[in-house]
Amino acid sequence: MRIYFDHNATTPLDPAVADAVAAALRDDFGNPSSVHHFGQRAKRLVDDARAALAALIGAEPSEVIFTSGGTEADNLALRGAADVLAGQGRRHLIASAIEHEAVLNTLQALQRHGSRVTLLPVDAHGIVSPDDLRAAIDDETCLVSVMHANNEIGTIQPVAELAAIAHDHGALFHTDAVQSVGKVPVDVETLGVDLLSLSAHKFNGPKGVGALWLRRGVRLSPTQTGGRHERSRRAGTENVPALVGMGVAARTAVDRLASTATPLTVLRGRLEDGILGVVSGTTVNGAREPRVPNTSNISFESVEAESLLIGLDLDGIAVSTGSACSSGTLEPSHVLRAMGLPHHRVQSSIRFSLGLGNTDLEVDRTIAVLPGIVGRLRDLTRASTRSRPAASGAGR
Ligand SMILES: Cc1ncc(COP(=O)(O)O)c(C=O)c1O
Repeated sequence: MRIYFDHNATTPLDPAVADAVAAALRDDFGNPSSVHHFGQRAKRLVDDARAALAALIGAEPSEVIFTSGGTEADNLALRGAADVLAGQGRRHLIASAIEHEAVLNTLQALQRHGSRVTLLPVDAHGIVSPDDLRAAIDDETCLVSVMHANNEIGTIQPVAELAAIAHDHGALFHTDAVQSVGKVPVDVETLGVDLLSLSAHKFNGPKGVGALWLRRGVRLSPTQTGGRHERSRRAGTENVPALVGMGVAARTAVDRLASTATPLTVLRGRLEDGILGVVSGTTVNGAREPRVPNTSNISFESVEAESLLIGLDLDGIAVSTGSACSSGTLEPSHVLRAMGLPHHRVQSSIRFSLGLGNTDLEVDRTIAVLPGIVGRLRDLTRASTRSRPAASGAGR
């Protein structure tokens, strides 16, 4: 039995999406920019995907810019807005300290080119304080970027309140909604944002395709120049089959949203309560509410997270030690560190992220095997601590 609890890294392709992608690959090779029959057929598919995606986030289709995924959408939002607003003397960007690397590393690049960057702290629950934003924002701030849901702990930020503060100071507001779209209702008007990033592979669509939503009237410099695709905001011939797949995934997500949030919350609760009940020294990291319904980040005292991940994998259970980009590098999670967690808790944290198709049976199996794996790892830690020679004190 193989169990997949790593849906925040990526999700399995919905079979209806796979069928639609295969059909488009096979039957619709036209270039959507061509005026003849083949081109117009492909263009209809692209328009259809745009309408489906817009409906998922309560937007107008003309406001959707297709990209190669969440990373590119974040880059386009930050670099594109920074470039336009630098001309108006606004060269200050603000983001939270727990953003995804797609935002944090883009900000670092902008900083090297003369922008000023402020990172907002988060509290022990992983939440940004509106007061901290009020204190950091000034007349030179061009853009504030705070993610909707965090990829490691799942907590949801008070985006509408933060966006209102940004607007009071004449700044734009961007939210990276890669981890919330498809998991909770996301409506651009309710959130009150100006730019929003999303990625298809996080809601059972294909990898390598996503979008940036840009409120009508907001100006953006393209980061990728060339032809006049995407209303001259992102050049390059459209990846028609991937867009078709994202469109089907978006439609399916709209239909499923009403029904999946509650069952996933119940399943996550069963997993969390079960683990905390059978494994001593366990703590849930981050605010329990508001949180996307699928994510649970848990510290296992005196256990090295990487070893636990491998132990679970050997038992057929796939989890993660944080964001997929930083796992494998043994880099301690910048999210948990920003929350002020002590080093030993940061190093012992595992992310469980559930999704469509996960069952009670899978959760129960995980709860059943965890005490044995954790117990063995703790025994090993104790044994290695005992066998270590006592420190002499020399050279300290
Ligand atoms: C919050 C967040 N933003 C951006 C990304 C990057 O998206 P993509 O994989 O589509 O480039 C991810 C992916 O893990 C993410 O979790």
